Amino acid sequence: MAAHERFKFKSALELAAKIEELKVDIALQEDLSPLAKPVRVRGAQAPNAIAALPMEGCDALPDGGPSELLERRYHRISTGGAGLIWWEACAVVEEGKANPRQMMLTEANQADYARLVGECRVSGALQILQLTHSGRYSRPSGKPAPIVPQRDPLLDPRVGITGDWEIASDAYLESLIEKYAKSAKLAEEAGFDGVDIKACHRYLLSELLASHERTGKYGGSLENRARLLLEIAKAVRASTGSGFIVACRFNVFDNHPYPYGFGMGKDGTFDSSEPIKLTRMLCDSGFDLLAVSAGNPYYLHPQTGRPFDSPPEGIPVPNEHPLESASRLFSLAQLVAKEAGNVPVIGCGYSWLRQYLPLVGSANLERGGCSFVGLGRSSLAYPDAPKDILDGRGMAPEKCCIACSKCTQLMRDHERAGCVARDSRVYGPIYKQGREAATSGKST
Ligand SMILES: Cc1cc2nc3c(=O)[nH]c(=O)nc-3n(C[C@H](O)[C@H](O)[C@H](O)COP(=O)(O)O)c2cc1C
Repeated sequence: MAAHERFKFKSALELAAKIEELKVDIALQEDLSPLAKPVRVRGAQAPNAIAALPMEGCDALPDGGPSELLERRYHRISTGGAGLIWWEACAVVEEGKANPRQMMLTEANQADYARLVGECRVSGALQILQLTHSGRYSRPSGKPAPIVPQRDPLLDPRVGITGDWEIASDAYLESLIEKYAKSAKLAEEAGFDGVDIKACHRYLLSELLASHERTGKYGGSLENRARLLLEIAKAVRASTGSGFIVACRFNVFDNHPYPYGFGMGKDGTFDSSEPIKLTRMLCDSGFDLLAVSAGNPYYLHPQTGRPFDSPPEGIPVPNEHPLESASRLFSLAQLVAKEAGNVPVIGCGYSWLRQYLPLVGSANLERGGCSFVGLGRSSLAYPDAPKDILDGRGMAPEKCCIACSKCTQLMRDHERAGCVARDSRVYGPIYKQGREAATSGKST
């Protein structure tokens, strides 16, 4: 591992020299045409190979419907030119909301979402809605109300779990199947092209994949740990039309020790055997689209999933270079893409590369490392980046995400999340308010 450094490159040549020095497997390619190629997903087509990744704004109305700020975010993203928009986490049940302002699609607000999805059709992007249950990180009324598939001595105390706290029963988990199916049906009727059954970042289905010590039909073997995810997919498929896309964003590796983490060897390092098997299971079960991620944004190593210059409050500076973190994410996407064959895979971890991300994304597409280049923080900082890339203008350095972690900090402070650096008029005051509340202990 190399020492952590902030981004300091003035040219692609300087970046290439650092990649060479660190001996990380990151390629740069000047020909950006792979980014402009349409990508087929089930019966549909994304007009290009850039995807806006799900970025939760924690700003929906109390009933889960779209607020002004939420609408603003999706209008900005949808006019930005990405070929696929992966809408943020949307709770399937009230008790599984990660915060009181998490999106939740219901009969009551369906018409508002239908209008917004229609407005976001401008660029012809495919629109996928991420369905979630926050599990351990549920806070529907602003206080921790964890629902956990396993006990975890490292994570339990952080959400107030002590003593003989009960884990979620098989009956409770089973009861969620119809909730996902219902949400998917509502999403289809609202005009979404598909849904993602979210299994990343240690929310409920992600942690279930890691529940090696759980007993019964949802714990122990990989077949059992993946059972609920596959049962949900089957129910979603049955409740929606034949063209509807069923997707899964999953953690290839949790960077959290065995037996509590997924994709981890007993020696504490990444073990690819189960992630490869899971990819095969997802493809064989008819998932149309996969997106990879890794790590736990609420624990000690958030750079695993989002390489940064500055860590959020209370997180140590990582003992690895952001290029090492990024290259690991690219290699995880490549591993999954190789196993997934014709099923398209979305990669992530590009935002730290700023204006050079198109060079890396293009090279990754060219070498079969993914089918879409996914942009997370960049989509908040610089929603028009896809247009600038595809129109040949290139990304303007002064508009790029600076990986300052302030969007993550907003979430940690239980505030509405957005880009503090590049969208400061809106998010500067919210950031200040969130920090003041957090430091004075008044945070909700
Ligand atoms: C503020 C914030 C909100 C996020 N919300 C979601 C989400 O709702 N669902 C999800 O799967 N990932 C979410 N992520 C993770 C991103 O989709 C993405 O994987 C991560 O930021 C790494 O990509 P990047 O380097 O392009 O930012 C979020 C990340 C941040 C910083």
